[in-house]
Amino acid sequence: MQVVAIDGPAGSGKSTVAKAVAQRLNLAYLDTGAMYRAVAFAALSGGLNLDDADAVLAVAQTLDLQLDQSSCVVNGVDATEAIRGTEVTQAVSVVAALPAVRAEMVQRQRQWAQDRNGGVMEGRDIGSVVFPDAALKIYLTASEEVRAQRRAAEAGGEDVAAVAADLGRRDEVDSQRKASPLVEAEGSVVVDTSAMTIDQVVDHVVGLLK
Ligand code: DC
Repeated sequence: MQVVAIDGPAGSGKSTVAKAVAQRLNLAYLDTGAMYRAVAFAALSGGLNLDDADAVLAVAQTLDLQLDQSSCVVNGVDATEAIRGTEVTQAVSVVAALPAVRAEMVQRQRQWAQDRNGGVMEGRDIGSVVFPDAALKIYLTASEEVRAQRRAAEAGGEDVAAVAADLGRRDEVDSQRKASPLVEAEGSVVVDTSAMTIDQVVDHVVGLLK
């Protein structure tokens, strides 16, 4: 089984790079952040109080999730756009901080890789928790300023300062939480993408595997 783990903070280029690496290597691709977003979406849709950990866990455990590169269907509802929306983006770090929810997602992620004999997986804890023995572990990063600029551009020219504040808040929650915080996994290669083009990053990552 060949797993390529790509972890890093929001806006570091993970999704773009992970998709391109998967395509080059002819491997499957999994966006594990979308899985936590799907749980948040289902919890919000059910009107749950996100502080009710047991209720959120029940949602996670019974989640019917159809996720691929271009769509995300949650309990039969097309949530492709909604999982990227403000409401879910604001709620997701609370959901992702719940240890039991993480345990459920990690189990699904391992099963996903087993079923495909590996793949490119992006997230926050792939190299540290999900697949510590991955063939290649990348920690993708970029300066805060560059990450905020990228996210603002993605969002169609939103105010960079507001985006920067939101990114900072999410990074803080993701890195400070007790359950599987965002860390540079042991044995990971740190790639700072601030001054690199996508093609340069992809070439570099593919080169590291060969
Ligand atoms: O990568 P993203 O922005 O779509 O991730 C959404 C949230 O899920 C973010 O708060 C980090 C969290 N996450 C996580 O805790 N573990 C993962 N493997 C992937 C994402």
